[in-house]
Amino acid sequence: GGAGAGAKATRNIAQKLEESGKDVVIFWGSQSGTSEMLASRLAKECHLRFGLQTLSADLCDYDAESIALIPQTKLAIFIISTYGEGDPSDNTAGFWEWLHKRPFDIKLPHLRYMAFGLGNTSYRYYNRVIDVVTEALDAAGAQRLMPVGKANDANGGTEEDFLAWKDDLFDVFMGQLGFKEQDIPYTPSINLVEDESLSLIDLNLGEPVEHRNGPARVVKAYSPIRPLTVQSSEELYTSPDRNCLHMELDITNHAELRYGTGDHLAVYPINTDHEVQLLLRAIGREDRAEKPLLVQPLEEGETTKIPSPTTLSALFRHYLEVSAPVSREIVGQLARFAPNEEAAKLLASLGKDKNGYAAFVSQNHVTFGRLLSLAAPGTVWKDLPLSYIVETLPTIQPRYYSISSSSAVSARKIAITVGVDNTPLAANASTEIRGVTTNYLYSLSNSLNGTTNSSVQLPKYALSGPGDALQGHKVYGCIRRSQFKLPTLGTTPLIMIGAGTGMAPFRGFIIERARLKAIGKPVGRMILFFGCRRPDEDYLYRQELAETAASLDGLLEIVPAFSRADDSPKVYVQDRVGEMKKDVCELLDKGANVYICGRASMAREVGKVVEESMKQHNNWSDAEARSWAESAKKGNKWLEDVWG
Ligand code: 2AM
Repeated sequence: GGAGAGAKATRNIAQKLEESGKDVVIFWGSQSGTSEMLASRLAKECHLRFGLQTLSADLCDYDAESIALIPQTKLAIFIISTYGEGDPSDNTAGFWEWLHKRPFDIKLPHLRYMAFGLGNTSYRYYNRVIDVVTEALDAAGAQRLMPVGKANDANGGTEEDFLAWKDDLFDVFMGQLGFKEQDIPYTPSINLVEDESLSLIDLNLGEPVEHRNGPARVVKAYSPIRPLTVQSSEELYTSPDRNCLHMELDITNHAELRYGTGDHLAVYPINTDHEVQLLLRAIGREDRAEKPLLVQPLEEGETTKIPSPTTLSALFRHYLEVSAPVSREIVGQLARFAPNEEAAKLLASLGKDKNGYAAFVSQNHVTFGRLLSLAAPGTVWKDLPLSYIVETLPTIQPRYYSISSSSAVSARKIAITVGVDNTPLAANASTEIRGVTTNYLYSLSNSLNGTTNSSVQLPKYALSGPGDALQGHKVYGCIRRSQFKLPTLGTTPLIMIGAGTGMAPFRGFIIERARLKAIGKPVGRMILFFGCRRPDEDYLYRQELAETAASLDGLLEIVPAFSRADDSPKVYVQDRVGEMKKDVCELLDKGANVYICGRASMAREVGKVVEESMKQHNNWSDAEARSWAESAKKGNKWLEDVWG
């Protein structure tokens, strides 16, 4: 399965463009799927508006050298994300290495290109990857046709940043490049057909698509995907607006799965019954949801992003991201398929109106299914092709959780610590956006324990369907190797800084060190800085940590920071690190490793305080402190496990 080139397809992009008669290639570099989605949307729109033949291409499906062979008559567009410490995504690795070739003798005199980067100003290296890529392409003599576009996801701005850049791109198309706007009727790229003759046994009813054939080292970072048994789940705390689960998954029956302390567990979510039903109802297919459905590519040699055969209900429940907010661009496109004039008008006007749509989204939880029923209540969208829905909605992506157990202590049982997230809408507090995966896990947890939470109305999930592999409280998941690892020597001191569920990997670290101590090995000193709201509310693993600390005979010092304690001012972990800078710097002098885990905005603040403390402690200049921090990161003495 998987999109893009199959095993026998060419890895030469110039040849691919020639053979398939494409005018434009849109390369994407993506980890979580956003760049991939934008690339495929752009490919489709370039076709519909300008009649261009376009190809959306996974950067790792082609040899980077072959980019030099793309003739001047074609265009290349790069849409590439930046992650973590200014790093490229896994699928960008080969391309990235090629651009870093030394001596740099790459020549690209024929390449005409545009570029758009995805980043987040909460991270230190904002959009570094697209900057490095475009500088290298320019140095190689490529011709950049417009300024590099950049998205900042810090306040969820990626979508509108992309649309603004796309307007500029289309101006270049129509001006400089002389492309003419045309009104091409929608043409599907896939065919979906019901076929009753298919035996039920062959249907894909939720098995995720295995990882695409990226570079060997990328694939090596992931285990195979398996249905994992949720063995136990416990609520670490429950407050009116949030709660947190400690969940343990049994991997005893999967010898091929092995994890290490500090690794991540990828969890494949399923969508709620409500979202699945909304879609089925809107397209008038409720009674056909379980019929075998073939998904076929219309172009020869292509594969589809959805496994085939499947069913409509599996498609909406397991394979498509139907719970994500719908982009304004899609809203505008939907107008042409609307079942009545009124809906068409509403969608067309929302599609054109940036502020109007922002207001609409702050009032309504606009998923695809909700949008269809809001725009034309009670009406079947009989002109909306199923192929359009499948092409438009991204495929469901796994969510990653930092493992909170130690593989040295519990090798066949993986623990994760899951904060269940629900965010009220900005202008309509009675409606919440519920985290897709966290609420799914919460629902599994309640089902396993036979509990219901009466204080909140939980969404319903079909936790196991007939014939699927998720019966008996299982979730599809796999293990992703991380760099967030304990030092080889048990005696190396540790400084661990985390807030909220950023505690997760530190629980594993501490349990592992306590085991070392218990079997008589020498163990280094540890300080854990932990941030939460209140001591009696969300102080994760408080009791267990206190007991472990006691068994460690003073080797572990726990420093909590409470941001909303009743009778004291707001304190964040970075404030505590600052207060204790003498201890922190002395431990660093003794060779301690620093670990930071949690939200990017927190990690950034914490990083500044650590760097500043070392600067003062050593009487360094800014540059010296900077270079210390950078080499600590390069040398794996300073490690971060951070999310947006
Ligand atoms: P809050 O009361 O402001 O939400 C886990 O969510 C903890 O991290 C909470 O105590 C939260 O504080 C805190 N937190 C939120 N933003 C932070 C930041 N930028 N730096 C440090 N801690 C932060």
